[in-house]
Amino acid sequence: MSTLPLAVPYSRKNPFPARLLVHTKLTAEGSEKETRHYEFSLAGSGLQYEVGDSMGIHPRNNPQLVQDLLEALHLSGEEKVKNKEGETFSLREALMVHYEITQPSKQFLQAMVERSPAPELREFMQPERKKELDQYLWGLEIVDFLIEAPSVRFSPEEFVSKLRKLQPRLYSIASSLRAFPEQVHLIVAIVRYESHGRKREGVASTYLADRIDGNTRIPMFVHVAKGFRLPEDPDTPIIMVGPGTGVAPFRAYLQERKAIGAKGKNWLFFGEQRSGCDYFYRDEFESLQRQGVLTRLHTAFSRDQAHKIYVQHRLLENARELYAWLQEGAHFYVCGDAARMAKDVDVALQQIVGKEGGMSAEAAAGYIETLRKEKRYKRDVY
Ligand SMILES: Cc1cc2nc3c(=O)[nH]c(=O)nc-3n(C[C@H](O)[C@H](O)[C@H](O)COP(=O)(O)OP(=O)(O)OC[C@H]3O[C@@H](n4cnc5c(N)ncnc54)[C@H](O)[C@@H]3O)c2cc1C
Ligand SMILES: NC(=O)c1ccc[n+]([C@@H]2O[C@H](COP(=O)([O-])OP(=O)(O)OC[C@H]3O[C@@H](n4cnc5c(N)ncnc54)[C@H](OP(=O)(O)O)[C@@H]3O)[C@@H](O)[C@H]2O)c1
Repeated sequence: MSTLPLAVPYSRKNPFPARLLVHTKLTAEGSEKETRHYEFSLAGSGLQYEVGDSMGIHPRNNPQLVQDLLEALHLSGEEKVKNKEGETFSLREALMVHYEITQPSKQFLQAMVERSPAPELREFMQPERKKELDQYLWGLEIVDFLIEAPSVRFSPEEFVSKLRKLQPRLYSIASSLRAFPEQVHLIVAIVRYESHGRKREGVASTYLADRIDGNTRIPMFVHVAKGFRLPEDPDTPIIMVGPGTGVAPFRAYLQERKAIGAKGKNWLFFGEQRSGCDYFYRDEFESLQRQGVLTRLHTAFSRDQAHKIYVQHRLLENARELYAWLQEGAHFYVCGDAARMAKDVDVALQQIVGKEGGMSAEAAAGYIETLRKEKRYKRDVY
């Protein structure tokens, strides 16, 4: 009797090749941003996710950047190279798929210092000058160092040995399997900027924006985020703070809560630059509000007026009710920018609890610490 081989489940190491179903630009004319909506088919993958999870995407580098690098290296790309696992690829394929070719690794910088005068880099490579090194490197890519030192030579093997492996990028899932079976939706802010006279691109975001279509198979896997789940009790109210792409998991939460008929109240704070061109999913959110799924919706458009209005300003304006929701047992969620927004929202939350709860700063901090311990204050920030 023959036995069928067991299907190997898809994972980070064995990603599912997903097909693109829908790709639209969310930001309209007049926007300073480029934010896009994607729908992928998971049909046949057996992949399951919960709302709050993220999707990992294995990107490919831009072929034009690979070509620029090959020219700067005086190599054709046909040369054969082996990776650490002993697999052989052409150099072009290796640079396209397997290695990070934008931001320089320590090993690459060290190799440049050994092969060229690079006086500034040499100085900043001293361990005590890490901060200056980071400032110096901001906006500089591998190709810049090679163009700057045209006499430097690397063998193909040597060059790839100085590179980091190309890492997958995570994107918060913006859909619920209950609303969209066998699909996953993502919201991606495309990274493009100019530095040192060259146009630069974020690897994964521009791979999705510029280099995939219905014929591409995009390798992806589910990244489980147990700490960013909806409350187990569907009656529990939730407060969601999600400016920019941070709104992604909350679109998923709302779909899920609608699909299961959850009775808990839902309050969303969304922020972006301009209401006219950056208010993604406006129709969806307003429709959910009319249906009673979205109990309260507040927006903060930072550039619709001369002074900045951010989500935390809307939280503060609604302090009394927000505190009342927390007292009723609401879970408080934050998603999006870690560097500035999440910190400022945390400060606002402390102020709200202090003022409305009549507490000292210390007591308010303790209240928030308790929320955290009870897993009622959840953040997914990047
Ligand atoms: C849990 C989690 C969830 C996430 N969810 C989302 C999501 O839903 N949507 C989303 O869009 N992103 C999300 N991200 C971020 C995402 O994973 C990527 O980091 C992002 O898309 C950038 O990847 P990239 O490959 O395009 O850019 P990369 O190639 O990684 O380049 C980004 C780097 O470019 C450099 N850089 C950027 N701008 C400039 C500039 N102006 N000047 C100089 N250097 C600059 C910085 O060093 C920056 O780190 C999430 C991240 C995490 C960890
Ligand atoms: N580290 C950085 O310098 C930087 C800058 C931009 C984006 N990012 C990253 O880029 C990715 C995508 O960004 P995104 O497009 O999702 O949106 P985003 O850049 O986070 O912007 C969304 C909204 O948040 C506002 N905002 C800016 N600073 C804020 C603060 N301190 N508190 C509250 N709101 C604030 C923005 O206003 P304004 O734009 O008008 O200020 C905008 O209205 C994220 O990974 C984010 O971390 C990083």
